[in-house]
Amino acid sequence: MTEEHFIPKTYSKTLENGSFTWSSPSNIALVKYWGKKEHQIPENPSVSFTLDYCKTTTTLSFSKKENNDTFSFDVFLENEQKDDFKPKIETFFKRIESYMPFLKDYHFKIETSNSFPHSSGIASSASGMSALALCLMSVEQSLGEVEVTEAYFNQKASFLSRLGSGSACRSIEGDVIVWGTHQEIDGSSDFFGIKYPFDVHQNFKNYQDSILLVDKGEKQVSSTVGHNLMHDHPFAERRFEQAHENMSKLISIFKTGDLDAFIKIVESEALTLHAMMMTSMPYFILMKPNTLEIINKIWAYRIETNSKVCFTLDAGANVHVLYPESEKESVMEFIKNELVTHCQNEHYISDQIGFGANQIQL
Ligand code: DP6
Repeated sequence: MTEEHFIPKTYSKTLENGSFTWSSPSNIALVKYWGKKEHQIPENPSVSFTLDYCKTTTTLSFSKKENNDTFSFDVFLENEQKDDFKPKIETFFKRIESYMPFLKDYHFKIETSNSFPHSSGIASSASGMSALALCLMSVEQSLGEVEVTEAYFNQKASFLSRLGSGSACRSIEGDVIVWGTHQEIDGSSDFFGIKYPFDVHQNFKNYQDSILLVDKGEKQVSSTVGHNLMHDHPFAERRFEQAHENMSKLISIFKTGDLDAFIKIVESEALTLHAMMMTSMPYFILMKPNTLEIINKIWAYRIETNSKVCFTLDAGANVHVLYPESEKESVMEFIKNELVTHCQNEHYISDQIGFGANQIQL
């Protein structure tokens, strides 16, 4: 399949105005996407759990405008106009214009809100861009694009989301999502995320993710800058191969439910991501002293109790604490007694694996 597949053929209807609302989740990667080529093509495959609680809800209202030579839109977050979000959305619109040729015909009002505090340092680009992409798909569908099956709708929503923010393409449907071509996963694609197609053991059902908010500040280095530093990175090629290898290992881990093996892959991926940041030029460190305190306490707790709790990290200082549902009570106790003290204002968010956005058109 090529990108042409997503260029619409004809629109059979005209629409003066309308509005659609979608809610879309965040996701947490187990094998990380870090490094991309032109057009948001990932350097390696990644796989993520979809989150259940951390979501963005977006209402897209549109009205036909006189001229069609520019993009025209306003953005609101929790009812407050946010002009600083506009450049990212303008870039998104430019990237997707050939796939959504109606974009310049309308003025859009984008009203968005998050289930988690915006200032929490939790990346909202995955849930935000995927919610907006789903709204745009609804507009396209009501313009009467032929061939809009549910499968095509979701695939194109993921394709568009990727052009907004790479990780956003893993937020469209399903609980475990793969993005990026992998030789053992039929149907995997660099263009969009797919539902993980193989068995996932009961051990991973309702897997828990408590997000410990170590640092709620703005990221010092944006993901886009970080990805670009993988060009000419001395360890890049080996890292991309390793991601393929880790995906292969996860396929059998998901099947057998081997949590010790799962922990090794997930923690190694998190530390490798940060190792890539520390060894790029310029180099940078996003972990904070409290990130390391938490990691060390998780390791000590695991030795003491034989727990299967582990951690992963995004491009920031916050720690995602992952654990099976069967350990929910004991690990929550551990978090409250020993880890929250390392969080900014003792803040954390408890989430778990969920099923994604496509169920929720509001
Ligand atoms: C560290 O998806 O935010 O969270 O494509 O430039 O928008 P852009 O990057 P983004 O990168 C996120 C990377 C990560 C790992 C991951 O989610 O796989």
